[in-house]
Amino acid sequence: MKLEGKTALVTGTSPNIMGGIAEELAREGANLVCVDIREEYAEKCAAAIIAEGHDAMDVVCDVTDEDQVVAAISTATERFGGVDILVNGAALFNFKGVLDMPVDEWRRQTDIILTGAFLFTKHVAHLMIRQDRKGNIINIISTAGHQGEPGNVGYGTAKAGLMNFTRSVAMELSGYGIRVNSLTPTATNPSEGQERAARWGVDWPRPRLGQRAAGLLPDASRGAPLLKLPSPSHYGKAAVFLASDDAEMITGFDLRVDAGAVSRYWIWSPGDA
Ligand SMILES: NC(=O)c1ccc[n+]([C@@H]2O[C@H](COP(=O)([O-])OP(=O)(O)OC[C@H]3O[C@@H](n4cnc5c(N)ncnc54)[C@H](O)[C@@H]3O)[C@@H](O)[C@H]2O)c1
Repeated sequence: MKLEGKTALVTGTSPNIMGGIAEELAREGANLVCVDIREEYAEKCAAAIIAEGHDAMDVVCDVTDEDQVVAAISTATERFGGVDILVNGAALFNFKGVLDMPVDEWRRQTDIILTGAFLFTKHVAHLMIRQDRKGNIINIISTAGHQGEPGNVGYGTAKAGLMNFTRSVAMELSGYGIRVNSLTPTATNPSEGQERAARWGVDWPRPRLGQRAAGLLPDASRGAPLLKLPSPSHYGKAAVFLASDDAEMITGFDLRVDAGAVSRYWIWSPGDA
């Protein structure tokens, strides 16, 4: 077990990607703090981890509210003594382009992705420094933060910002022995999310690709060089690696778990090759 005795705080624990990451971290021995604005997603994620024989707690928190963030971290500290691993994954999807995006929706979306990660990083980093814990932080990006996706301006802009936030904070915290990395998922196979939602007994709305504007590939796996889409457990295993001592010399790095999507030569269509 690579994370035995560690405490991991994960934000945005729906049954899809962050729930999958939380479960993989717990399977490697970490105690889990499951944080979400939606009570049932925090609660059921923690309950599922406990049902597998690990330790977990749930906290309802809006990641954009500093008082709630501070309270969440202090509740986690009371229960588990501190935080060793922070995974910032809370996000809001809102598929609008620059011509259609109302400013209040732009503010809310970029606030959740960027300010949420900023607040948790700031207060968890202070705690790690106070407790002299050589912890680590993982920010969840997206291939939309690496490429220019039409009709998704708030999301792609915030995710690209989060990637450079990662590098910048990695430099600030390196002297304290705190590592800061990011992990890039891409369009994700929905089966695991649906299976996890059923196992948790919660509703989880259908995957994002279906909501997007026309002009995208009808079958996303045809654009992925590995010709299949990753699942949340693939991201979870990558998060375990980044969080563990196996990655002790890795900081300021973005680990792409994207089936090769960002490296793809733009004229090449893998599904037609
Ligand atoms: N699904 C994909 O195809 C995909 C692809 C690349 C990257 N990602 C990233 O992976 C992460 C998880 O994605 P997902 O598909 O599981 O999304 P999801 O919508 O299923 O989960 C996001 C979670 O964030 C929570 N949340 C939203 N606003 C919040 C707030 N203010 N405070 C606290 N929690 C809040 C939601 O309640 C939800 O549980 C996100 O960072 C997303 O950007 C997803």
